[in-house]
Amino acid sequence: MVVIAICGTPGTGKSELAKLFEKCGFKVIHLSSFVIENKLYQGYDKARGAYIIDEGKLVDKIKEVLEKNNNVVIEGIGAEVLPSKLVDLCIVLTCEPFMLEKRLSERGFSYEKIQENLEAERFGVILGEAMNNYGKSKVMIFDTTYTSVEELFQVIVDELRKRGIDVEKKT
Ligand SMILES: Nc1ncnc2c1ncn2[C@@H]1O[C@H](COP(=O)(O)OP(=O)(O)O)[C@@H](O)[C@H]1O
Ligand SMILES: [Mg+2]
Repeated sequence: MVVIAICGTPGTGKSELAKLFEKCGFKVIHLSSFVIENKLYQGYDKARGAYIIDEGKLVDKIKEVLEKNNNVVIEGIGAEVLPSKLVDLCIVLTCEPFMLEKRLSERGFSYEKIQENLEAERFGVILGEAMNNYGKSKVMIFDTTYTSVEELFQVIVDELRKRGIDVEKKT
């Protein structure tokens, strides 16, 4: 059984990477939709345009999924601060700001949202939180600036194998 958290600033490629794990039989929790579908929030922050997550409820619901599935990927904003004992490894995706800007503008993010995220990426905010929460030994960092999702996945599969975790492609 292995539980992998995937985190990173928006646009670094978390959801795309998670899809490839899904193809290999992993149960994938996409935190943003998981929170909404299971009503794991305390309310809605209108100013930020985001749900206020009920952490207790979220952790309980994640535990339910972990009980029923062997290999699980948890991806999205918030994956960097889950209780460390639930997570075996944390993959942090990074991207050079010039490329992140391109990806986020293609996604239709507002100027302000793009600047906010570029700033967060420059300062390594998510990486810092992941390191702080999980510790260096559980954190793996991958830069996605010049790597396609498929190439990235292959590199990660090789790294996981070195750590004794076998991810097999299902055809
Ligand atoms: N490794 C990558 N290389 C190039 N483009 C990528 C890569 N990963 C994702 N993308 C592109 O970047 C955008 C954001 O990817 P997504 O997986 O939705 O990011 P996130 O879930 O981290 O916000 C998408 O348009 C996707 O096609
Ligand atoms: Mg996403």
